[in-house]
Amino acid sequence: MAKTVNVALIGQGFMGRTHSNAYLKVAKFFTNLPAVPVMHTSFGMKNEDCNAFTSRWGWQHCSTDWEKTVRSEEIDLVDIVTPNYMHMEPALAALEAGKPVATEKPLAGTLADARKMVEAAKQAKVPTFVWYNYRRVPAVALAYQLVREGRIGRIYHVRCVYLQDWGGPDTPLAWRFQKKLAGSGAHGDLNAHIVDMARFVTGDEIVEVTGAIAETFIKERPLASAGATGGIVQKTKSRAKGRVDVDDAVLFLARFRKGAVASFEATRLATGYKNRNGFEIHGEKGALRFNFEDMNYLDFYDNTEDPKTASWRHIIVTSGGNHPYVGAWWPDAHILGYEHGFVNQAADIMHVLARRKPVVPVPDFADAYETQRVLEAALLSAKERTPIKISELK
Ligand SMILES: NC(=O)c1ccc[n+]([C@@H]2O[C@H](COP(=O)([O-])OP(=O)(O)OC[C@H]3O[C@@H](n4cnc5c(N)ncnc54)[C@H](O)[C@@H]3O)[C@@H](O)[C@H]2O)c1
Repeated sequence: MAKTVNVALIGQGFMGRTHSNAYLKVAKFFTNLPAVPVMHTSFGMKNEDCNAFTSRWGWQHCSTDWEKTVRSEEIDLVDIVTPNYMHMEPALAALEAGKPVATEKPLAGTLADARKMVEAAKQAKVPTFVWYNYRRVPAVALAYQLVREGRIGRIYHVRCVYLQDWGGPDTPLAWRFQKKLAGSGAHGDLNAHIVDMARFVTGDEIVEVTGAIAETFIKERPLASAGATGGIVQKTKSRAKGRVDVDDAVLFLARFRKGAVASFEATRLATGYKNRNGFEIHGEKGALRFNFEDMNYLDFYDNTEDPKTASWRHIIVTSGGNHPYVGAWWPDAHILGYEHGFVNQAADIMHVLARRKPVVPVPDFADAYETQRVLEAALLSAKERTPIKISELK
């Protein structure tokens, strides 16, 4: 019989909902899970309606004391979905109590916090996880598999963008625009995802950021009204303003260890793009192209084909027999969405906790730390207008 895993969820915002949905659905679709999550306790801030969230999503208990919750003997997995500044403390407390910990991305708001989390995880010798959920979008997992199968050969170019446009001047000064709460702006929010995806799909590590630009276009924003959080930012009519101390956009160039060159661009001011999160990877034998706004497809160019007929293939990634994760879902081409990546991740976390192999690797704290180092190098490169080797950062 599958073992049960009592989960404590720390945070009740946007990611609070995606993770709750994942725990709620995972055992219904992945019917042979070796471990099954039990939605034990949901933590909310004192200004949130903790009971309403708890009962809506089917958690058994509601808590406004995260410290007591993460240390409780009844809890087997602590899952942290609070703003970036509040990943480290609950993670360290949970690790000290010997509990496996999952946290949303980026690993932390700062490299120093992230380093402490990696060290604590090493000491605790328990599994850790970071919810870089796009790895578990079937098209991205398929790209990972095709690279491993040698279908694109030696990689020359990696081109990644994460473009959104919700960050105009009316968008209030939520936690995502405050350095002490978020660490950085579009960079830690969006570049974090595409750096993780680039490392994941290529299987290679970035060794140098050769140049970067960080820009804050909107230097003051209306103060957020009471209760406004950051997940789905509501526009405000408030006239009082506060200073923004994070980037709206960060662009950088990088080199991979095996020689590929890469570009990354993240912005909240790409007017017209709502959530264009994508990559293009060009290799000797082929190329891959992914755009999250069309997430049920992966484009593949096979450079070994007869040039007379070679062309981009627009592969629909939902044939249950062959495509990663899809066997757990609907019949072929019955289209998957954003939330499925989170349910897929919950399934993989349950596999790791039961010492079974996930469909594709789940980043632990040490893995996510490598992404954090790249992010830090890009900010430093932008500030100092100089290349930064990743090895220069501990
Ligand atoms: N994987 C993804 O696709 C994805 C998407 C969005 C956010 N995230 C990450 O998830 C985490 C949470 O983001 P979210 O969008 O759920 O945020 P949110 O603002 O919607 O929710 C944040 C939660 O943390 C609590 N909180 C604690 N301290 C807070 C503070 N000072 N200000 C505001 N809320 C505070 C809130 O009460 C709320 O329950 C962040 O680390 C973020 O980077 C990941």
